[in-house]
Amino acid sequence: MVSSSVIIHFFLLSLSLFSLSCLSASQPHSFILPIKKDPSTNLFYTSVGIGTPRTNFNLAIDLAGENLWYDCNTHYNSSSYIPIACGSERCSDVACIGCNGPFKPGCTNNTCPATATNSLAKFIFGGDLGEDFIFISQQKVSGLLSSCIDIDRLPSFTGEDSPLNGLPKITKGIIGLSRSNLSLPTQLALKNKLPHKFSLCLPSSNKQGFTNLLVGSIGGDPFKELSKFVQTTPLIVNPVSTGAVSVQGVPSVEYFIDVKEVKVDGNVLNLKPSLLSIDKKGNGGTKISTIIPFTELQSSVYKPFIRDFLKKASDRKIKRVESVAPFEACFDSSSIKNSVPRVDLVLQGGVQWTIHEANLMVNVKKNVACLGIVDGGTEPRMSFTKASIVIGGHQLEDNLLVFDLASSKLSFSSSLLVHNASCS
Ligand SMILES: *[C@@H]1O[C@H](CO)[C@@H](O)[C@H](O)[C@H]1NC(C)=O
Ligand SMILES: *[C@@H]1O[C@H](CO)[C@@H](O)[C@H](O)[C@H]1NC(C)=O
Ligand SMILES: *[C@@H]1O[C@H](CO)[C@@H](O)[C@H](O)[C@H]1NC(C)=O
Ligand SMILES: *[C@@H]1O[C@H](CO)[C@@H](O)[C@H](O)[C@H]1NC(C)=O
Repeated sequence: MVSSSVIIHFFLLSLSLFSLSCLSASQPHSFILPIKKDPSTNLFYTSVGIGTPRTNFNLAIDLAGENLWYDCNTHYNSSSYIPIACGSERCSDVACIGCNGPFKPGCTNNTCPATATNSLAKFIFGGDLGEDFIFISQQKVSGLLSSCIDIDRLPSFTGEDSPLNGLPKITKGIIGLSRSNLSLPTQLALKNKLPHKFSLCLPSSNKQGFTNLLVGSIGGDPFKELSKFVQTTPLIVNPVSTGAVSVQGVPSVEYFIDVKEVKVDGNVLNLKPSLLSIDKKGNGGTKISTIIPFTELQSSVYKPFIRDFLKKASDRKIKRVESVAPFEACFDSSSIKNSVPRVDLVLQGGVQWTIHEANLMVNVKKNVACLGIVDGGTEPRMSFTKASIVIGGHQLEDNLLVFDLASSKLSFSSSLLVHNASCS
Protein backbone atom coordinates (compact mmCIF):
# COMPACT_ATOMS: atom_id res chain seq x y z
CA MET A 1 0.00 0.00 0.00
CA VAL A 2 1.31 3.35 -1.02
CA SER A 3 -0.13 5.30 1.82
CA SER A 4 1.60 3.96 4.92
CA SER A 5 4.97 3.71 3.24
CA VAL A 6 4.67 7.36 2.31
CA ILE A 7 4.22 8.40 5.89
CA ILE A 8 7.02 6.17 7.11
CA HIS A 9 9.38 7.32 4.42
CA PHE A 10 8.68 10.96 5.15
CA PHE A 11 9.17 10.43 8.84
CA LEU A 12 12.41 8.49 8.43
CA LEU A 13 13.75 11.04 6.04
CA SER A 14 13.35 13.83 8.54
CA LEU A 15 14.94 11.70 11.22
CA SER A 16 17.90 10.61 9.17
CA LEU A 17 18.67 14.12 8.03
CA PHE A 18 18.41 15.23 11.57
CA SER A 19 20.84 12.64 12.92
CA LEU A 20 23.26 13.36 10.11
CA SER A 21 23.36 16.95 11.13
CA CYS A 22 23.89 15.99 14.75
CA LEU A 23 26.83 13.77 13.87
CA SER A 24 28.67 16.44 11.97
CA ALA A 25 27.79 19.51 13.93
CA SER A 26 30.19 21.65 11.93
CA GLN A 27 28.54 20.80 8.63
CA PRO A 28 24.80 20.50 9.07
CA HIS A 29 22.77 19.12 6.18
CA SER A 30 19.45 20.58 7.04
CA PHE A 31 17.47 22.52 9.57
CA ILE A 32 14.07 21.42 10.70
CA LEU A 33 11.42 23.60 12.27
CA PRO A 34 8.03 22.48 13.57
CA ILE A 35 4.89 24.06 12.10
CA LYS A 36 1.63 24.55 14.02
CA LYS A 37 -1.68 26.00 12.95
CA ASP A 38 -3.42 28.67 15.00
CA PRO A 39 -7.12 27.81 15.13
CA SER A 40 -8.38 31.36 15.58
CA THR A 41 -6.51 33.07 12.72
CA ASN A 42 -5.99 29.93 10.58
CA LEU A 43 -2.38 31.07 10.16
CA PHE A 44 0.76 29.04 10.79
CA TYR A 45 3.68 29.52 13.13
CA THR A 46 6.91 27.96 14.22
CA SER A 47 9.18 28.33 17.22
CA VAL A 48 12.83 29.33 17.47
CA GLY A 49 15.08 30.24 20.39
CA ILE A 50 16.95 33.54 20.30
CA GLY A 51 19.82 34.98 22.33
CA THR A 52 21.44 34.43 25.71
CA PRO A 53 19.78 33.23 27.81
CA ARG A 54 17.80 31.42 25.13
CA THR A 55 14.29 32.84 24.84
CA ASN A 56 11.71 31.00 22.77
CA PHE A 57 9.69 32.96 20.24
CA ASN A 58 6.69 31.73 18.30
CA LEU A 59 6.87 33.35 14.87
CA ALA A 60 4.22 33.50 12.16
CA ILE A 61 5.36 31.91 8.89
CA ASP A 62 5.32 34.35 5.98
CA LEU A 63 6.48 33.16 2.56
CA ALA A 64 6.68 36.81 1.50
CA GLY A 65 8.58 37.92 4.61
CA GLU A 66 11.88 39.75 4.06
CA ASN A 67 13.56 38.59 7.24
CA LEU A 68 13.09 37.16 10.70
CA TRP A 69 11.83 39.83 13.08
CA TYR A 70 10.82 39.54 16.72
CA ASP A 71 9.51 41.71 19.51
CA CYS A 72 12.47 42.50 21.74
CA ASN A 73 10.25 44.27 24.27
CA THR A 74 11.12 45.93 27.58
CA HIS A 75 11.53 42.59 29.32
CA TYR A 76 13.86 41.11 26.76
CA ASN A 77 17.63 41.47 27.01
CA SER A 78 20.18 39.17 25.44
CA SER A 79 23.86 39.41 26.35
CA SER A 80 24.95 37.93 23.02
CA TYR A 81 23.07 40.47 20.87
CA ILE A 82 25.29 42.44 18.47
CA PRO A 83 23.69 45.46 16.75
CA ILE A 84 24.92 45.97 13.18
CA ALA A 85 26.51 49.39 12.89
CA CYS A 86 25.42 51.91 10.27
CA GLY A 87 27.74 52.02 7.27
CA SER A 88 29.22 48.60 8.03
CA GLU A 89 29.61 45.98 5.34
CA ARG A 90 26.48 44.10 6.39
CA CYS A 91 24.34 47.23 6.44
CA SER A 92 22.83 47.91 3.04
CA ASP A 93 20.66 50.77 4.27
CA VAL A 94 21.72 54.41 4.24
CA ALA A 95 19.52 55.33 7.20
CA CYS A 96 20.69 55.03 10.79
CA ILE A 97 18.87 54.47 14.09
CA GLY A 98 19.84 55.85 17.46
CA CYS A 99 18.64 55.34 21.03
CA ASN A 100 19.78 56.97 24.22
CA GLY A 101 19.62 53.90 26.40
CA PRO A 102 19.47 52.09 28.69
CA PHE A 103 21.00 49.89 26.02
CA LYS A 104 19.55 46.51 25.17
CA PRO A 105 18.33 44.81 21.99
CA GLY A 106 15.89 47.27 20.43
CA CYS A 107 17.66 50.27 21.96
CA THR A 108 21.17 50.72 20.63
CA ASN A 109 22.97 53.67 19.13
CA ASN A 110 24.21 54.03 15.56
CA THR A 111 22.30 50.96 14.39
CA CYS A 112 21.38 49.77 10.90
CA PRO A 113 17.62 49.67 10.31
CA ALA A 114 15.76 46.54 9.20
CA THR A 115 12.13 46.05 8.29
CA ALA A 116 9.60 44.51 10.65
CA THR A 117 6.88 44.18 8.06
CA ASN A 118 3.50 42.63 8.64
CA SER A 119 1.11 42.89 5.70
CA LEU A 120 -1.82 42.59 8.15
CA ALA A 121 -0.84 45.79 9.98
CA LYS A 122 -1.72 49.30 8.81
CA PHE A 123 1.71 50.86 9.23
CA ILE A 124 5.10 49.87 7.94
CA PHE A 125 7.31 49.25 10.96
CA GLY A 126 11.04 49.12 11.16
CA GLY A 127 13.40 47.55 13.66
CA ASP A 128 17.13 47.23 14.22
CA LEU A 129 19.40 44.91 12.31
CA GLY A 130 21.22 42.66 14.73
CA GLU A 131 23.05 39.39 15.10
CA ASP A 132 22.40 36.83 17.79
CA PHE A 133 22.28 33.09 18.31
CA ILE A 134 19.23 31.46 16.81
CA PHE A 135 18.25 27.99 18.00
CA ILE A 136 16.61 25.93 15.31
CA SER A 137 15.27 22.83 16.99
CA GLN A 138 18.36 21.69 18.92
CA GLN A 139 20.93 23.43 16.74
CA LYS A 140 22.52 26.66 17.91
CA VAL A 141 23.31 28.80 14.88
CA SER A 142 25.47 31.91 15.01
CA GLY A 143 26.04 34.69 12.51
CA LEU A 144 22.42 35.07 11.41
CA LEU A 145 20.98 38.53 10.96
CA SER A 146 17.51 39.38 12.14
CA SER A 147 15.45 42.42 12.95
CA CYS A 148 14.42 43.27 16.47
CA ILE A 149 11.74 45.79 17.30
CA ASP A 150 10.85 46.86 20.82
CA ILE A 151 7.09 47.18 20.52
CA ASP A 152 6.90 48.88 23.93
CA ARG A 153 8.88 51.80 22.49
CA LEU A 154 6.71 52.42 19.43
CA PRO A 155 5.79 56.06 18.91
CA SER A 156 2.30 56.90 20.14
CA PHE A 157 1.02 57.91 16.68
CA THR A 158 0.83 54.25 15.74
CA GLY A 159 -2.12 54.04 18.15
CA GLU A 160 -3.86 50.71 18.13
CA ASP A 161 -1.74 49.42 15.26
CA SER A 162 1.09 47.05 16.05
CA PRO A 163 3.55 45.01 14.02
CA LEU A 164 1.78 42.01 15.58
CA ASN A 165 -1.69 42.94 14.27
CA GLY A 166 -3.64 40.04 12.84
CA LEU A 167 -0.98 37.47 13.71
CA PRO A 168 -1.71 34.51 15.98
CA LYS A 169 -1.88 35.75 19.61
CA ILE A 170 0.80 33.29 20.59
CA THR A 171 3.34 34.79 18.14
CA LYS A 172 5.84 37.60 18.72
CA GLY A 173 7.13 38.17 15.22
CA ILE A 174 7.45 36.75 11.73
CA ILE A 175 9.81 34.29 10.12
CA GLY A 176 10.19 35.33 6.48
CA LEU A 177 10.88 32.67 3.86
CA SER A 178 11.09 34.90 0.79
CA ARG A 179 13.89 35.17 -1.80
CA SER A 180 15.37 38.07 0.12
CA ASN A 181 19.03 37.96 1.23
CA LEU A 182 17.92 38.25 4.84
CA SER A 183 15.34 35.47 4.85
CA LEU A 184 16.19 32.49 7.00
CA PRO A 185 16.42 29.90 4.18
CA THR A 186 18.72 32.21 2.19
CA GLN A 187 21.01 32.90 5.13
CA LEU A 188 21.13 29.26 6.28
CA ALA A 189 21.82 27.94 2.78
CA LEU A 190 24.56 30.48 2.09
CA LYS A 191 26.27 30.15 5.45
CA ASN A 192 26.25 26.34 5.47
CA LYS A 193 26.81 25.84 1.75
CA LEU A 194 23.49 24.03 1.51
CA PRO A 195 21.39 23.87 -1.63
CA HIS A 196 19.18 26.93 -1.70
CA LYS A 197 15.86 25.23 -1.16
CA PHE A 198 13.33 24.50 1.52
CA SER A 199 10.22 22.43 1.90
CA LEU A 200 7.00 23.29 3.60
CA CYS A 201 4.01 21.20 4.53
CA LEU A 202 1.27 23.06 6.37
CA PRO A 203 -0.84 21.01 8.77
CA SER A 204 -4.62 21.10 8.40
CA SER A 205 -5.32 20.91 12.09
CA ASN A 206 -3.69 21.28 15.43
CA LYS A 207 -4.57 17.80 16.48
CA GLN A 208 -2.11 16.47 13.95
CA GLY A 209 0.71 17.91 16.01
CA PHE A 210 3.87 19.18 14.48
CA THR A 211 4.92 19.14 10.88
CA ASN A 212 8.10 20.39 9.41
CA LEU A 213 9.71 23.25 7.65
CA LEU A 214 12.91 21.86 6.27
CA VAL A 215 15.71 24.08 5.04
CA GLY A 216 18.62 22.81 3.03
CA SER A 217 19.40 19.44 1.57
CA ILE A 218 16.21 17.49 1.29
CA GLY A 219 18.09 14.52 -0.09
CA GLY A 220 18.91 13.88 -3.75
CA ASP A 221 15.39 12.90 -4.56
CA PRO A 222 13.59 13.98 -1.46
CA PHE A 223 10.48 11.98 -1.47
CA LYS A 224 11.02 8.93 -3.63
CA GLU A 225 7.67 7.50 -2.64
CA LEU A 226 5.98 10.85 -2.91
CA SER A 227 7.66 11.69 -6.19
CA LYS A 228 4.92 9.74 -7.94
CA PHE A 229 2.52 12.47 -6.93
CA VAL A 230 4.90 15.41 -7.09
CA GLN A 231 4.76 17.80 -10.01
CA THR A 232 7.05 20.67 -10.88
CA THR A 233 6.50 24.12 -12.29
CA PRO A 234 8.87 27.09 -12.70
CA LEU A 235 9.00 29.71 -9.97
CA ILE A 236 8.53 33.12 -11.56
CA VAL A 237 10.27 36.30 -10.48
CA ASN A 238 8.02 39.35 -10.64
CA PRO A 239 10.45 42.03 -11.93
CA VAL A 240 8.66 44.73 -9.94
CA SER A 241 8.97 44.78 -6.17
CA THR A 242 5.66 43.83 -4.55
CA GLY A 243 6.44 44.67 -0.94
CA ALA A 244 5.12 47.43 1.27
CA VAL A 245 8.16 49.48 0.35
CA SER A 246 8.56 49.56 -3.41
CA VAL A 247 12.08 50.12 -4.70
CA GLN A 248 12.44 50.88 -8.37
CA GLY A 249 14.34 48.27 -10.34
CA VAL A 250 14.36 45.77 -7.50
CA PRO A 251 12.46 42.54 -8.23
CA SER A 252 9.83 41.12 -5.90
CA VAL A 253 11.04 38.70 -3.22
CA GLU A 254 7.73 36.82 -3.31
CA TYR A 255 7.08 33.45 -4.97
CA PHE A 256 5.02 33.56 -8.14
CA ILE A 257 3.95 30.69 -10.37
CA ASP A 258 2.50 30.96 -13.83
CA VAL A 259 -1.16 29.93 -13.81
CA LYS A 260 -2.27 29.75 -17.45
CA GLU A 261 -5.85 28.64 -16.92
CA VAL A 262 -8.33 27.98 -14.17
CA LYS A 263 -10.69 25.03 -14.63
CA VAL A 264 -13.94 24.26 -12.90
CA ASP A 265 -15.06 20.67 -13.43
CA GLY A 266 -12.75 20.47 -16.42
CA ASN A 267 -14.12 23.59 -18.10
CA VAL A 268 -11.66 26.41 -18.66
CA LEU A 269 -12.76 29.67 -17.08
CA ASN A 270 -13.31 32.33 -19.71
CA LEU A 271 -10.74 34.98 -18.76
CA LYS A 272 -8.70 37.45 -20.74
CA PRO A 273 -5.23 35.81 -20.70
CA SER A 274 -3.72 39.15 -19.67
CA LEU A 275 -5.68 38.92 -16.41
CA LEU A 276 -3.45 36.10 -15.21
CA SER A 277 -0.07 37.35 -16.39
CA ILE A 278 2.22 39.88 -14.76
CA ASP A 279 2.11 43.30 -16.46
CA LYS A 280 4.82 45.96 -16.76
CA LYS A 281 3.86 47.51 -13.45
CA GLY A 282 4.10 44.19 -11.61
CA ASN A 283 0.34 43.73 -11.32
CA GLY A 284 -1.27 40.37 -11.94
CA GLY A 285 0.22 36.93 -11.71
CA THR A 286 -0.25 34.23 -9.09
CA LYS A 287 1.62 34.24 -5.84
CA ILE A 288 1.70 31.91 -2.88
CA SER A 289 1.05 33.27 0.59
CA THR A 290 0.99 31.78 4.05
CA ILE A 291 -0.19 35.00 5.67
CA ILE A 292 -3.70 34.91 4.24
CA PRO A 293 -5.85 31.96 5.33
CA PHE A 294 -7.90 31.63 2.12
CA THR A 295 -7.09 32.09 -1.55
CA GLU A 296 -8.01 35.52 -2.87
CA LEU A 297 -8.96 36.09 -6.48
CA GLN A 298 -8.91 39.59 -7.84
CA SER A 299 -12.54 40.60 -8.53
CA SER A 300 -12.43 40.18 -12.30
CA VAL A 301 -11.19 36.60 -11.83
CA TYR A 302 -13.39 35.92 -8.82
CA LYS A 303 -16.70 36.85 -10.43
CA PRO A 304 -16.60 34.40 -13.38
CA PHE A 305 -15.03 31.77 -11.13
CA ILE A 306 -17.76 31.85 -8.52
CA ARG A 307 -20.45 31.94 -11.21
CA ASP A 308 -19.05 28.80 -12.84
CA PHE A 309 -18.56 27.06 -9.52
CA LEU A 310 -22.14 27.74 -8.42
CA LYS A 311 -23.44 26.54 -11.77
CA LYS A 312 -21.49 23.28 -11.57
CA ALA A 313 -22.54 22.80 -7.96
CA SER A 314 -26.16 23.24 -8.94
CA ASP A 315 -25.68 20.73 -11.80
CA ARG A 316 -24.54 18.30 -9.12
CA LYS A 317 -27.71 19.01 -7.13
CA ILE A 318 -25.75 20.55 -4.31
CA LYS A 319 -28.05 22.79 -2.30
CA ARG A 320 -26.87 26.36 -1.83
CA VAL A 321 -27.53 28.01 1.53
CA GLU A 322 -27.05 31.52 2.92
CA SER A 323 -23.50 32.90 2.70
CA VAL A 324 -21.31 32.91 5.79
CA ALA A 325 -18.73 35.72 5.67
CA PRO A 326 -16.10 35.92 4.34
CA PHE A 327 -17.40 33.19 2.02
CA GLU A 328 -20.03 33.56 -0.65
CA ALA A 329 -20.65 30.07 -1.96
CA CYS A 330 -22.02 28.01 0.93
CA PHE A 331 -23.84 24.69 0.74
CA ASP A 332 -25.86 22.27 2.77
CA SER A 333 -23.17 19.64 3.45
CA SER A 334 -25.69 16.82 3.48
CA SER A 335 -26.52 17.62 -0.16
CA ILE A 336 -22.90 17.04 -1.19
CA LYS A 337 -23.39 13.42 -2.18
CA ASN A 338 -20.30 12.66 -4.19
CA SER A 339 -18.04 15.61 -4.33
CA VAL A 340 -17.98 19.34 -5.03
CA PRO A 341 -16.95 20.68 -8.45
CA ARG A 342 -13.31 20.08 -9.14
CA VAL A 343 -10.94 23.05 -9.39
CA ASP A 344 -7.63 22.83 -11.27
CA LEU A 345 -4.94 25.37 -11.94
CA VAL A 346 -3.19 24.74 -15.24
CA LEU A 347 0.43 25.78 -14.84
CA GLN A 348 3.40 26.51 -17.02
CA GLY A 349 4.92 23.24 -18.18
CA GLY A 350 1.52 21.68 -18.73
CA VAL A 351 1.14 20.46 -15.17
CA GLN A 352 -2.03 20.79 -13.20
CA TRP A 353 -2.49 21.72 -9.55
CA THR A 354 -5.71 20.07 -8.49
CA ILE A 355 -7.27 21.69 -5.45
CA HIS A 356 -8.95 18.77 -3.78
CA GLU A 357 -12.12 18.99 -1.76
CA ALA A 358 -10.35 19.16 1.60
CA ASN A 359 -8.50 22.25 0.38
CA LEU A 360 -11.50 23.79 -1.32
CA MET A 361 -14.21 23.53 1.29
CA VAL A 362 -14.40 24.91 4.81
CA ASN A 363 -16.86 23.49 7.31
CA VAL A 364 -18.16 26.70 8.86
CA LYS A 365 -20.88 25.19 11.01
CA LYS A 366 -23.02 22.12 11.39
CA ASN A 367 -24.22 21.09 7.94
CA VAL A 368 -22.75 24.11 6.18
CA ALA A 369 -19.64 23.92 4.02
CA CYS A 370 -18.38 26.95 2.08
CA LEU A 371 -16.02 27.31 -0.81
CA GLY A 372 -12.90 28.67 0.93
CA ILE A 373 -11.94 31.11 -1.80
CA VAL A 374 -12.68 34.81 -1.41
CA ASP A 375 -13.02 37.99 -3.46
CA GLY A 376 -9.72 39.82 -3.21
CA GLY A 377 -11.19 43.08 -4.52
CA THR A 378 -9.32 45.30 -6.92
CA GLU A 379 -7.15 47.41 -4.63
CA PRO A 380 -3.70 46.31 -3.47
CA ARG A 381 -3.16 45.94 0.27
CA MET A 382 0.16 46.96 1.86
CA SER A 383 1.73 46.89 -1.58
CA PHE A 384 1.80 48.89 -4.77
CA THR A 385 0.84 45.91 -6.86
CA LYS A 386 -2.07 43.54 -7.00
CA ALA A 387 -1.77 39.85 -7.89
CA SER A 388 -4.59 38.16 -9.84
CA ILE A 389 -4.49 35.10 -7.60
CA VAL A 390 -3.02 34.75 -4.12
CA ILE A 391 -3.03 31.12 -3.09
CA GLY A 392 -3.63 31.08 0.66
CA GLY A 393 -3.05 28.75 3.60
CA HIS A 394 -6.16 26.57 3.45
CA GLN A 395 -5.41 25.63 -0.14
CA LEU A 396 -1.82 24.69 0.79
CA GLU A 397 -2.60 22.43 3.75
CA ASP A 398 -1.36 18.87 3.46
CA ASN A 399 0.35 19.76 0.20
CA LEU A 400 4.07 19.17 0.20
CA LEU A 401 5.79 22.19 -1.34
CA VAL A 402 9.48 22.30 -2.22
CA PHE A 403 10.83 25.74 -3.15
CA ASP A 404 14.04 25.20 -5.06
CA LEU A 405 15.59 28.60 -5.63
CA ALA A 406 18.75 27.26 -7.24
CA SER A 407 16.80 25.80 -10.16
CA SER A 408 13.87 28.22 -9.72
CA LYS A 409 11.28 25.47 -9.46
CA LEU A 410 8.37 24.69 -7.22
CA SER A 411 7.49 21.05 -6.61
CA PHE A 412 4.07 20.37 -5.17
CA SER A 413 2.16 17.25 -4.29
CA SER A 414 -1.47 18.39 -4.35
CA SER A 415 -3.32 16.99 -1.37
CA LEU A 416 -1.47 14.16 0.33
CA LEU A 417 -4.79 13.16 1.89
CA VAL A 418 -5.79 11.69 -1.45
CA HIS A 419 -2.93 9.25 -0.95
CA ASN A 420 -3.87 8.60 2.66
CA ALA A 421 -0.89 10.62 3.78
CA SER A 422 -0.81 14.03 5.44
CA CYS A 423 1.78 16.60 6.37
CA SER A 424 2.20 15.09 9.80
C1 LIG B 1 21.27 44.22 28.99
O1 LIG B 1 22.33 43.32 29.20
C2 LIG B 1 23.61 43.94 29.03
C3 LIG B 1 24.71 42.88 29.11
O2 LIG B 1 24.22 41.61 29.30
C4 LIG B 1 23.80 45.01 30.08
O3 LIG B 1 25.06 45.64 29.91
C5 LIG B 1 22.69 46.03 29.92
O4 LIG B 1 22.77 47.01 30.94
C6 LIG B 1 21.33 45.37 29.98
N1 LIG B 1 20.34 46.38 29.66
C7 LIG B 1 19.24 46.58 30.38
C8 LIG B 1 18.32 47.66 29.90
O5 LIG B 1 18.97 45.94 31.36
C1 LIG C 1 24.95 58.01 20.10
O1 LIG C 1 25.76 58.30 18.94
C2 LIG C 1 25.92 59.65 18.68
C3 LIG C 1 26.63 59.81 17.35
O2 LIG C 1 27.54 58.77 17.15
C4 LIG C 1 26.68 60.30 19.85
O3 LIG C 1 26.83 61.67 19.63
C5 LIG C 1 25.88 60.06 21.12
O4 LIG C 1 26.62 60.55 22.24
C6 LIG C 1 25.60 58.59 21.32
N1 LIG C 1 24.72 58.44 22.48
C7 LIG C 1 24.99 57.62 23.49
C8 LIG C 1 23.98 57.60 24.59
O5 LIG C 1 25.98 56.93 23.53
C1 LIG D 1 22.00 39.83 -2.14
O1 LIG D 1 23.17 39.08 -2.18
C2 LIG D 1 23.76 38.98 -3.45
C3 LIG D 1 24.93 38.03 -3.38
O2 LIG D 1 25.54 38.03 -2.14
C4 LIG D 1 24.16 40.40 -3.91
O3 LIG D 1 24.71 40.32 -5.18
C5 LIG D 1 22.92 41.27 -3.92
O4 LIG D 1 23.26 42.59 -4.24
C6 LIG D 1 22.21 41.26 -2.60
N1 LIG D 1 20.95 41.95 -2.73
C7 LIG D 1 20.58 42.90 -1.89
C8 LIG D 1 19.24 43.50 -2.17
O5 LIG D 1 21.24 43.25 -0.94
C1 LIG E 1 -7.15 5.11 2.21
O1 LIG E 1 -7.70 4.55 3.38
C2 LIG E 1 -9.07 4.20 3.25
C3 LIG E 1 -9.59 3.74 4.61
O2 LIG E 1 -8.54 3.53 5.51
C4 LIG E 1 -9.21 3.12 2.19
O3 LIG E 1 -10.56 2.77 2.04
C5 LIG E 1 -8.66 3.65 0.87
O4 LIG E 1 -8.69 2.64 -0.13
C6 LIG E 1 -7.24 4.14 1.04
N1 LIG E 1 -6.81 4.80 -0.21
C7 LIG E 1 -5.60 4.64 -0.74
C8 LIG E 1 -5.32 5.40 -1.98
O5 LIG E 1 -4.75 3.91 -0.26
